[in-house]
Amino acid sequence: MNTLSVCVWTLDDQHLRSFDRRYGVRTSGYVSLASTSVDRAKLRHATSYGPVNAWAFRRLLRNLSLPRTLHFADLGCGLGRACILAAEYGFEKVTGVELAPELCVVARENMSCCRLPESYRSRIKIVEGDVLDYCAATDDDVFFVYRAFSVEFFRRVLTKLAEGATRRRRPLTIIYTERLSWPPSDGVKVFSEDQTFRKVDERSMFGQAFHVYECSAKS
Ligand SMILES: C[S@@+](CC[C@H](N)C(=O)[O-])C[C@H]1O[C@@H](n2cnc3c(N)ncnc32)[C@H](O)[C@@H]1O
Repeated sequence: MNTLSVCVWTLDDQHLRSFDRRYGVRTSGYVSLASTSVDRAKLRHATSYGPVNAWAFRRLLRNLSLPRTLHFADLGCGLGRACILAAEYGFEKVTGVELAPELCVVARENMSCCRLPESYRSRIKIVEGDVLDYCAATDDDVFFVYRAFSVEFFRRVLTKLAEGATRRRRPLTIIYTERLSWPPSDGVKVFSEDQTFRKVDERSMFGQAFHVYECSAKS
């Protein structure tokens, strides 16, 4: 069943591009960061661009039913597909953080022309920069990561988020996702290294595995 889902998804992403047609945007396909102007020193810890499965992420958000008053950030937003879905879900504020300037340009075009009511579109902001800098000062509540970094870098991002939760004395939610694989990648294991993170949900849909954690403030 999962193999079939992955085949259908690949066909959709490469050829049918149903998400892009529906929203009037360009988010499908794959972009190697080596083809962008990203600082070469940063390439070692960054993965290339590929969009999340829209059917799966939309359904996950519906199932998690997080309060719509929360602020959402996609750490490594690429061309902004997850931001569109988060705004459509109804989060009050949606931020996409992306390292590659070329991807940010297209992401911003996508946000300005996507077929969402203006009241939803206007909640989305694309920030060009490194997520590590962003996480040091963010006051968002829900963080989405689609296998954007090396394990070593992801560990640093989680440390920053945990510090933020403690500073603000407020728990936060992290949605980590990757393509379904067995065994799960080392990215998932990073959560178990720190007691601060508590698993609240885990599910796979359309070949996409989601791991949802809550990070509480340390006393
Ligand atoms: C697999 S894509 C995910 C795209 C998007 N989140 C989605 O689900 O459709 C990972 C993205 O993370 C970005 N990225 C990697 N390292 C980053 C960093 N340190 N700061 C900001 N963005 C980064 C890459 O440029 C790439 O666009």
